[in-house]
Amino acid sequence: MSRTVYVNGEYLPEEDAKISIFDRGFLMADGVYEVTSVLDGKLLDFPGHMTRLARSLGELDMDTPVTDAEMEAIHRELIRANDIDEGLVYLQVTRGAADRDFHYPEGVKPSLVLFTQKKTLTETPAATNGIKVVSIPDIRWGRRDIKTVQLLAPSMGKMAAKAAGADDAWLVEDGFVTEGTSNNAYIVKGGKIITRNLSTDILHGITRAAVLRFAREAQMEVEERPFTIDEAKEADEAFITSASTFVCPVVEIDGAKIGDGTPGPVARRLREIYLEESRKTAT
Ligand SMILES: Cc1ncc(COP(=O)(O)O)c(C=O)c1O
Repeated sequence: MSRTVYVNGEYLPEEDAKISIFDRGFLMADGVYEVTSVLDGKLLDFPGHMTRLARSLGELDMDTPVTDAEMEAIHRELIRANDIDEGLVYLQVTRGAADRDFHYPEGVKPSLVLFTQKKTLTETPAATNGIKVVSIPDIRWGRRDIKTVQLLAPSMGKMAAKAAGADDAWLVEDGFVTEGTSNNAYIVKGGKIITRNLSTDILHGITRAAVLRFAREAQMEVEERPFTIDEAKEADEAFITSASTFVCPVVEIDGAKIGDGTPGPVARRLREIYLEESRKTAT
């Protein structure tokens, strides 16, 4: 069945939705995006996603296409129109359509596109069994804190992982793990949760912020610093976080079992807490 999508002020059946071939998102990946999860028909941490969107737009001197209130209304209408109980809302803002030129065009209206995806998020094989990751070089650009639509490097990374019989890849730069292809990366050693500190090297995950807050509230020790793949292989546990996977255990890295090779108690507990707490504040 065709979805209802949103394009520049209009709600349309997906087959009728069109964007210019001159759109800079299409020609230059000159655009940013957000993915917000939906549980029980409600948005998880919507304000967090709007704050990061504003920051991404600001870093690229890109205009904000609609107010936060309008953006929320569009999310709600798409959830209603497409009957989304569990799934995702994808939103993308690009600088808009202009004749091809490297300089930013002036006076061009940004393009805004949103669509929904129905998806099981809570009860997944990955969450129950954990995932296997392989390490690969981080070949991305230097502003990973901006959530741009240039996703070829992570796409290549996921294909390399698949070819190696794994579920995903962790990216390594200068000997240290930056993050996963589409998630933040963590290890647990002696009860301490270790994850890379925020900088331009990684995306500032909305789920990361929530999970670290919940972990500290639950008196768990958190250390924000880089770690190596060797250290990860020796860890008691490993896991990833993202809006669509929440907290997902990692049970194997480069063929080495982590802990006893099954999801660890810290990752399982954090997933429970995250789901419980996020549901309370879902809107
Ligand atoms: C590279 C990268 N890191 C981390 C994340 C996790 O961010 P969030 O928790 O906001 O989904 C994502 C999500 O798409 C990502 O692409």
